[in-house]
Order: sequence, then C-alpha cells, then structure tokens
Amino acid sequence: MTAEPEIDLHHHGDAEVGANLMDFAVNVRLPGPPTWLRRHLVEALDTLGSYPDPRRARAAVARRHGRPEQEVLLTAGAAEAFVLLARALHPHRAVCVHPSFTEPEAALRAAGHRVERAVLPYPFVLQEASVPEDADLVVLGNPTNPTSVLHSASQVAALARPGRVLVVDEAFCDTVPGEPDSLASRRELPGLLVVRSLTKTWGLAGLRIGYVLGAAPLLEQLAAQQPLWSVSALALVAAEQCNTPAALAEADRAAQDLVGRRARMEASLSQLDDVQVVPGGRSSFLLVQVPEGAAVRVRLRAAGIAVRRGDSFPGLGPAWLRLAVRRDEANRTLVTALACALQSATRYHNI
Ligand SMILES: Cc1ncc(COP(=O)(O)O)c(C=O)c1O
Repeated sequence: MTAEPEIDLHHHGDAEVGANLMDFAVNVRLPGPPTWLRRHLVEALDTLGSYPDPRRARAAVARRHGRPEQEVLLTAGAAEAFVLLARALHPHRAVCVHPSFTEPEAALRAAGHRVERAVLPYPFVLQEASVPEDADLVVLGNPTNPTSVLHSASQVAALARPGRVLVVDEAFCDTVPGEPDSLASRRELPGLLVVRSLTKTWGLAGLRIGYVLGAAPLLEQLAAQQPLWSVSALALVAAEQCNTPAALAEADRAAQDLVGRRARMEASLSQLDDVQVVPGGRSSFLLVQVPEGAAVRVRLRAAGIAVRRGDSFPGLGPAWLRLAVRRDEANRTLVTALACALQSATRYHNI
C-alpha cells in the first residue's frame, strides 16, 4: 500500500493522440455515434429549448438492468459519478485497487480524502486479501483499464459487506459478450455502486453520458451533489436509445466481434521477442510490457502510431503500453511497427 500520489492521475489516452497518428491510445470503439443514433440525436435538437427531463432515460436504464428507477442515477459520463461519490461519501479508509483508471482516486483526493492503493501484482488478478478488511470504501474496475483483466463476479461480489461502499467501475463491461461478470443487476449486495459508461461503445465521449446503479438511499446522497441538469437532453436521448433491446443486441455483436480480433492481435504480439502480453485480456485493449517502453513509444509515434503510456497508472511503469484493439488490418500495422520499434531499441541498446 502506498499513500502518496507521485504520478499524474489526470493523464489519459486522449493526450497521446494527434493529427496524422493512428489512434491505439484511446479506447473508444467508434469515431462517432452510429447512423441510427445520430438520427435520434439530430431529431432531439428540436427539443433543446426545454430543460432536460431524465424520466424516459432513467426508465430505459432501469428496465435494462432489472432495477427500480430509484436505483438509477444518470450522470455526465462515468467521470461525473466518481466526483459525486467522492463529494457525497465520508470514508475512514478509502482504498483504490490498481492498476486501474485513475479518475476515481483523483476525485477522492480532490474532495479531501486520504486514499490508499491496493496494487495487484502481475498478472493483476484480484485476490480477496488484496483489500484491507476495514476499508469502508473500495473502488475497482471490471474489466479493468488498463490491464484488460476481467475479475469474476464472485470475486468482486465477495468484497461487498455491510459498512462498506464497494464501487465497481464497469465502464468497459459491455465489451464482454453477455456481460457474465457484471454486478449491475445485483440488488442484494450491500453498499454496491456500479458505475457504467455509454461513451466508449457508442462513440459518445464528447456527449458525456453514464450512470450509477445502487441502493436508492446511497444514490440520493450522490444526487444531492449533482449540479442541476448536468446531463443534457441529447445525452438523455442517447441513454434511452442505447438501452433498447436492439441497441443492446448491437453492442453484444460488437463485443463478440472483438473477441476474435483481440485473439489474433494477442497471438501476433506474443510472437514478437521481448513483448509480454498480460494474459486473459477480455476488453477492447491489451496491456503489454516491452523493454525500453518509453523509447519504443516515441519510435511508434515517429512511425505515426499513438499508444497509451503505462507509467501514469499506479503499479505500472514506463515498460508498459496499453494498445487498443482495432480492425485486423490496423492491428497488423501496429504489430509490424512495434516489431520495428523494438528492433531499433535493441540496436540502439547494443551500440
Ligand atoms: C475505466 C474507465 N472508467 C470510466 C471512464 C470514464 O468514462 P466516461 O467517458 O463515461 O466519463 C473511463 C474513460 O476512459 C475509463 O477508462
């Protein structure tokens, strides 16, 4: 456990992309919303004279997860949820499981809380003993950004107990076909808050839409911290439309398609000398370890490819790079470029 932040918790993949770079750094599936969703958004432009009304969107999310509407809080992306819970809760011992998305820890610190880190060792699989028994706030991601590891529902559920708030960031859960390890519908688990995002799967990072699921009294505490109308009318339309049976089926087909592409990418990466791929990747990205990672990343950039640095994740360092899984052809381009970057790194090293 370490207590002090020594890295930039606000660094994200979007800082690594740029004009003329192939983007393997940001884990958003689409460059923008699909045509059918775009149509709904365009139609909704006519309603922008009215203040946002969350009722239909909230009902759609509640239906999707088999919960009463009072157990759904719509937010301006998952990111807003972390700020709300950091402001609403008063933990005595807050623990963030790492390596993981850093905004929950950043939000907790910004709200004045002390945060401990439970750093999972390679291969980054959760153990029950990973979290101190008296932690009354525990935050973890599933599947986890940046490791792509999916913890089992039973492992995560075992962390819930009376007197503790367990926050599970499921922003990437819909990248796993059938979402077998989601806790989104588990109403019986004490203190559980499940945070979800719609920005990645639907190309809506700029629109900002996500939500929290949990017991009504806990959500009321979070809602009390939320600025009025923070979720825009267009974001509400997206929440409603991305939770219809047809949209869910489309997301699941995309998740199934991802499985093969990720397996092919992982196989070609594993054939490269010096590349260690974190095993068991289940999301839309893979985490790799390479020698001289910082130099390799710079070489990839010079070759027109942006990858996500690993050294801003607690528990990782410069040797780690996170790679988004794209279409097969793009993935092959990345693997070829990585092989070249590694060769130059080795040559340089041997001079
Ligand atoms: C694991 C994880 N959770 C949450 C978020 C934030 O998602 P949103 O765009 O819904 O705020 C991100 C964004 O990168 C993420 O990687």
